[in-house]
Amino acid sequence: MTWTDAGDMLRRAETPLFWVGAFTVASILLWVLYRLLSGFRVWVLGNGQLISPQLGKWAVVTGATDGIGKSYAEELARRGFAMVLISRSQHKLDDVARSLEDRFGVETKTIAADFGKTNIYPTIEAGLSGLEIGVLVNNVGVSYPYPEYYLRIPDLDNFITNMINVNMTSVCQMTRLVLPRMANRSKGVILNISSASGMYPVPLLTIYSSTKAFVDFFSRGLQEEYRRQGIIIQSVLPFFVATKMTRIRKPTLDKPTPERYVAAELNTVGLQGQTNGYFPHAVMGWVTTKMVPIGLVIFLGARMNRLQRTGYLHRRKLREQKNGTGLKTD
Ligand SMILES: NC(=O)c1ccc[n+]([C@@H]2O[C@H](COP(=O)([O-])OP(=O)(O)OC[C@H]3O[C@@H](n4cnc5c(N)ncnc54)[C@H](OP(=O)(O)O)[C@@H]3O)[C@@H](O)[C@H]2O)c1
Repeated sequence: MTWTDAGDMLRRAETPLFWVGAFTVASILLWVLYRLLSGFRVWVLGNGQLISPQLGKWAVVTGATDGIGKSYAEELARRGFAMVLISRSQHKLDDVARSLEDRFGVETKTIAADFGKTNIYPTIEAGLSGLEIGVLVNNVGVSYPYPEYYLRIPDLDNFITNMINVNMTSVCQMTRLVLPRMANRSKGVILNISSASGMYPVPLLTIYSSTKAFVDFFSRGLQEEYRRQGIIIQSVLPFFVATKMTRIRKPTLDKPTPERYVAAELNTVGLQGQTNGYFPHAVMGWVTTKMVPIGLVIFLGARMNRLQRTGYLHRRKLREQKNGTGLKTD
């Protein structure tokens, strides 16, 4: 082929190449515009009006006496819902119930139940009977006291049973109790609090991460089953929030207070079936799932948790030496 032939070919290809390029650039611009507009819709305009007692007089929150659950209870009571609060400790339930009644003038009901057990559901069913429930927040959850290798988790047998019962069985059973009446009225919202740890495997928190992935899958599958009946089921996947569970005392932009997290999250209901709930967390979710290879995310998660484990065991050893107990730590 001569230079003249090659020049001819290029000239002939010029127009088609121009259109391929133009189409590609236009598609990318349209995609970016769509993402910006949907981001604006979710994170700036929000859907704050959706969660109101028009869905039903009562809202039910599990794990309602601390952290994220307590903040949901407060925000829903502020919006006028009568509240059913469920946790283990009756005295903490009484305190939260009294505070909601005083501050927001709403009716409350408490049910003391340990979600680590499986025989509690008849009691909860009796407590909920006859109530018109508009919102259920499946919030109760437990994590590890510190990151640990699977076989080194103290009392592993009971640890497994408790975590599965609290994090997974509670979500299925509470939904079993509440969803039928929502479906009959074609109205209702179920918020299932999963975790960003459920978006990919998190080594040394492996059972927790797996239970949260279950919650995410359960929510998304069920949403598709009941969407046409007017029910919203949302999977909520927070990164760190400053609560007792995380032992974060100083909130920051990326580790918000539970109040700030919940206020942001409720704006996403009805707009996102699966949400990180809070703009900085959504950015973290996007980066870790779309921009970084999954293998690297798992590797870095393992490294971070190994460091945390070493730090925790070291501090524990020092404490024990100081107290003269000197228990074996590893
Ligand atoms: N904090 C975070 O950074 C974060 C991040 C991602 C996901 N999450 C998820 O968000 C949810 C709430 O977390 P949190 O940080 O708010 O937790 P938290 O501060 O430890 O509060 C947990 C709540 O659950 C109750 N609870 C614990 N074990 C229970 C049991 N066996 N039976 C009944 N109630 C029980 C506790 O009350 P009693 O002790 O009185 O029973 C408390 O009200 C969990 O599902 C967690 O996995 C949290």
